[in-house]
Amino acid sequence: AANAENLPPNLPSWSQHLGFSVDDRPYGRPSQHEGHVVRRSVKWLTATRESSVNFTPLHELDGFVTPNGLCFERHHGGAPDIPSQDHRLMIHGLVNRPLLFTMDDLMRFPPVSRFHFLECAANGGMEWRGSQLNGCQYTHGMVHCVQWTGVSLKTVLDEAGLKSHAKWLLPEGADSAAMTRSIPMEKALDDCLLAYSMNGERLRPEQGYPLRLLVPGWEGNMWVKWLRRIEVGDQPWHHREETSKYTDLLPDGKARRFTWVMEAKSIITNPSPEKPLSVKGVQQLKGLAWSGRGKIKRVDVSFDGGMNWQTARLEEPVLPKCLTRFYVEWNWDGKSVMLQSRAMDETGYVQPTYADLHQVRGENSIYHNNSIQTWLINPNGEAENVRLG
Ligand code: MTE
Repeated sequence: AANAENLPPNLPSWSQHLGFSVDDRPYGRPSQHEGHVVRRSVKWLTATRESSVNFTPLHELDGFVTPNGLCFERHHGGAPDIPSQDHRLMIHGLVNRPLLFTMDDLMRFPPVSRFHFLECAANGGMEWRGSQLNGCQYTHGMVHCVQWTGVSLKTVLDEAGLKSHAKWLLPEGADSAAMTRSIPMEKALDDCLLAYSMNGERLRPEQGYPLRLLVPGWEGNMWVKWLRRIEVGDQPWHHREETSKYTDLLPDGKARRFTWVMEAKSIITNPSPEKPLSVKGVQQLKGLAWSGRGKIKRVDVSFDGGMNWQTARLEEPVLPKCLTRFYVEWNWDGKSVMLQSRAMDETGYVQPTYADLHQVRGENSIYHNNSIQTWLINPNGEAENVRLG
């Protein structure tokens, strides 16, 4: 509760002495009163803290840009902090000129800046067999969205010169996990970037400093961090991350593979389990929507568990393969409400219900759960993660 001594008509305590100086915080940080706004992990989820994940606090954010210090982290062998001057990018394989780049070399190419979301294929993976985690940070927080700056991968590949039978790339990380994925050449030449900055400053170590690959709209594990090598080949490598991991086991025992695209998805961030309603009357419902296939075209919101829908207001700019913010102004009369949001992208794809997704995919999956989320708002204003159907 507020301290009455600081409220009108009194002069608040902070008006009665000087504040901190321009030299006290050479690198700024959030207000000490916002200390609860942090990435959080789920301790039981992984056996070690290095091969683990933490989650973006989506319910605390406005707009569509994630602040650098709040971008979720996922690494398989811990995050190295590599001296930029000791880092090299090697390009070899089916190229005319194998090349070795310093960071300075890469920064001499024309820079490109673009906003893109990055979503882990496992976002929502814990929810396949029923509602498990009571918070949108945990059910949907393996996504972040920043303005990336770097050089187009096509520019760098052109410099090396691709041989005519060059069809696939194998990017590899310099971390202890040496993460690799096979990337088809069509995508590499389309919109991939080699990024060295996020939101205007150099990458954070946990996001891949000094260099990471961006594969816009595709699953996060392909966005290789601490990128040290790109091998060019004529076929995919079928490595661990695309065989035993990052495949989707179906009910008949077969597995879907190379399921790269992150399909359209949305989440209501406010209210949510972390952000209950505190008063009756006019409320601003807030949420985020995204699609790996392009722009979000429409988001619908339901207050009765999907029987009736109303169209939300999308906030500009609505950019391709980027988070889009949506709002609905509504009136809460203090009764129970079943909140849902449903995204549609510019291809016409509509976010599925869990029942529809389950029918096709069964429940052996971990990855690619883009089903509609339900929050049950109780008469006391608290929101609960529930599963319908
Ligand atoms: N790159 C390397 N070198 N090592 C890794 O462990 N994790 C991948 C990918 N790139 C990983 C990596 C996974 S699984 C995801 S979801 C994204 O990075 C997470 O990116 P972030 O930490 O910026 O959120």
